[in-house]
Amino acid sequence: MAQPVIVADQLSEKQSEYMQLIAEIMEIRKRGEKPLAYIRTYGCQQNVADSEKIKGMLVKSGFDFVDAPDDADFILFNTCAVREHAEDRVFGNVGALKNLKRKHPQILIALCGCMMEQEHIAKRIYNSFPFVGLVFGTHSLHHFPELMYNSLVNGKRIFERGNDDNKLYEGIPVRRDGVFKGWLPIMYGCNNFCTYCIVPYVRGRERSREKGVILSEAREMIHSGYKDITLLGQNVNSYGKTLSEPVSFASLLSEIDSIEGDYWLRFMTSHPKDCSRELIDTIALGTHISKHLHLPFQSGSDRILKLMNRHYDRKKYMETIEYAKKQIDGVSLTSDIIVGFPGETYEDFKETLSLIREVAFTSLFTFIYSPRVGTPAASMDDPISAEEKGEWFRELLAVQEEIAAKRCSSMVGSTERVLVEEVKEKTGELNARTSGNIIVELTGDKSLTGTFQNVKITQARNWILKGEII
Ligand code: 5AD
Ligand code: SF4
Repeated sequence: MAQPVIVADQLSEKQSEYMQLIAEIMEIRKRGEKPLAYIRTYGCQQNVADSEKIKGMLVKSGFDFVDAPDDADFILFNTCAVREHAEDRVFGNVGALKNLKRKHPQILIALCGCMMEQEHIAKRIYNSFPFVGLVFGTHSLHHFPELMYNSLVNGKRIFERGNDDNKLYEGIPVRRDGVFKGWLPIMYGCNNFCTYCIVPYVRGRERSREKGVILSEAREMIHSGYKDITLLGQNVNSYGKTLSEPVSFASLLSEIDSIEGDYWLRFMTSHPKDCSRELIDTIALGTHISKHLHLPFQSGSDRILKLMNRHYDRKKYMETIEYAKKQIDGVSLTSDIIVGFPGETYEDFKETLSLIREVAFTSLFTFIYSPRVGTPAASMDDPISAEEKGEWFRELLAVQEEIAAKRCSSMVGSTERVLVEEVKEKTGELNARTSGNIIVELTGDKSLTGTFQNVKITQARNWILKGEII
């Protein structure tokens, strides 16, 4: 694929003017009071990172943020299309805004993200939710200020879906949600077309950000105190392929790792078909890189993996896992699994169970297959009932619970470095996380939030550990 055209300063100049104009309009409307925005994000970290850009643009347009829609002047849902359940939640929550709009007709209600790139969804929103004033997809994020300005000025409904895969937009301001935990997108889109997945249709083809831009953003995050940085992409292992000077993901990771500071570096998601030995060696040798590999296998059955278009088989997956276990001391392995892919039999499902037992994952993200309009799997024969899939799913959870509990109890007595993340409101205890992504509950002062601590693991409760600060 041709290298995408990088659109940077020029774009942000034009959009900056719109942000300024929005600020002026809102100042008049609110008679000098700060305008308020309510942003709700569904789905994956990529969406969280997109919302942080939208928030960045809103800050520049004079907005503050609120935690509930009631007092907001601008309401935006950043939506997810990966499973039907996420879409249903969006429809339900948008429907609930009808009364609010009736009470306060001046508020602007907007929807964006993956769902909005699908024509049938945009049509449904257009017809069923007339109080939604602005709709735009993932490809239109870069000119959100212009779209918002036009909505505010014209009062007409704006619906925009783009498909411009040939461009990559830099220079968009970011307002990060966290102060010590942050996301750093390194690429957008996906070229893999797994047969169940809507992502390639709604996020377009793979585009990698320039290495220099990523490095300077990483430096800036580390210098401003971020302790836990996650590099994001749908398939980080194919990072750099579209650049004029191709770079491997492993070498990018290793360059970021060489930035001085006290921080952890994570990444997601890796595709098993391109998880190289070079990458595993880089993790093993890294100073800041978490000893954690999230490697979604989706199914343990070769027959199903073929139908899913995953381009690896169980044997190849296990070879990668064995190599990671050998090279990375105490590696923590996590994965995504789909239960009930069209045509999956109980025999296939048992292969998934046996793979889970063989690997002994720290934790799993498990999903029941959800047909997505326009994907090849949606038109495959799917004879297994929802009830039966539900039973398989529960069986899977029970097996994983047993494995995770065993792994966690094997850690009792060990010393772990953790990052303290939050105070639990109910108990006042601290929640911390190991580099392998395991939660550890601690007692301690809330001032420790955002710091690394060495803890002794004293107890294991299912997949949660308890520890004491040393
Ligand atoms: N149904 C169920 N799960 C899905 N995923 C992606 N598409 C679907 C679908 N149609 C899961 C995969 C992927 C994770 C992010 O979401 O496991 O790795
Ligand atoms: Fe979807 Fe497969 Fe791309 Fe992941 S790699 S986003 S599952 S198509």
